[in-house]
Amino acid sequence: MSPTQPHPLPIILDCDPGHDDAIAIVVAARHTNLLGITTVAGNAPLDATTRNAIIMRDLLGLDAPVHAGANRPLVQPARHAGYVHGVSGMDGADLPEPSRPAESHDAVGFIIETCRAHEGVWLVPTGPLTNIALALRAAPDLAARIAGISVMGGGTFGNRTAAAEFNLWADPEAADMVFSYGGPLIMSGLDVTHRFQALPDRIEMVRSLPGRLAAVLSDLLDFFSETYRSRHHHITGAAVHDPCAVMALTHPHLFRREFRHVEIETHGLRTAGMTVIDQRDLKEVPDANCDVQVDVDADAAWDVVVEAIAHFSR
Ligand code: BDR
Ligand code: CA
Repeated sequence: MSPTQPHPLPIILDCDPGHDDAIAIVVAARHTNLLGITTVAGNAPLDATTRNAIIMRDLLGLDAPVHAGANRPLVQPARHAGYVHGVSGMDGADLPEPSRPAESHDAVGFIIETCRAHEGVWLVPTGPLTNIALALRAAPDLAARIAGISVMGGGTFGNRTAAAEFNLWADPEAADMVFSYGGPLIMSGLDVTHRFQALPDRIEMVRSLPGRLAAVLSDLLDFFSETYRSRHHHITGAAVHDPCAVMALTHPHLFRREFRHVEIETHGLRTAGMTVIDQRDLKEVPDANCDVQVDVDADAAWDVVVEAIAHFSR
């Protein structure tokens, strides 16, 4: 694609950077028409995730606006993930100061207006689903207007609890609204993202690139991987979850998917936030509503990440 041609795939990336969200921003900037970045409280409080999103936007030299959104889940109290991402949400690198504040604190309004103004927008949430749920509730017409939603979250196993993955556990009520919205839905859960790890040789591929962006990202990936290694028995590098939700759209051939009925458990004492994936072979199961990503060509997907970083390192 020539640099003057617009990317064909319009998306809004709704994120809580987050080391892996930062990588998702790079891949989205390279391979989509990134209409805007919206932020949500998740890995860290909203002011930190918004700051990190602006820093990434600056490092990439993007025009895309950054709009801050929900500072807490719909019902649950705010709970963050400093044990994985550090208190700043992106610990481990010498980050520049953000060049300017967010364009607004109305991410939900931005999502609604943008989806009404552009045909076929994909929403790509890589944090708790609060902003997306609020937008769908405030503007029910969005469900039929958008091209779909590509979520990072869920899986047949959990990370925050035995049953639940962090993004959906953090705001199960919002996740329930999104998974039942009725339109195209892709889920990149832990089954696939744990197969996509920042192994040491993969981080070195990033570090060998010139410039500040690559230096920052390789330091971030080192920190992220170290927290994974310190917390897991059997993992060599961090699971780089969030770019999978972007590449599900931009590089679908790199993934294997199963079309399933998926619902969110909202009330379980031990299972809140769990994706209940109906894998029964029965004819009477409810209609499938979700493309569940189950496997990835990790080397090829990492090449996409490295090429995207290299593109912005020239
Ligand atoms: C998800 O939670 C966060 O730690 C990551 O950024 C990712 O979006 C993985 O469970
Ligand atoms: Ca995230």
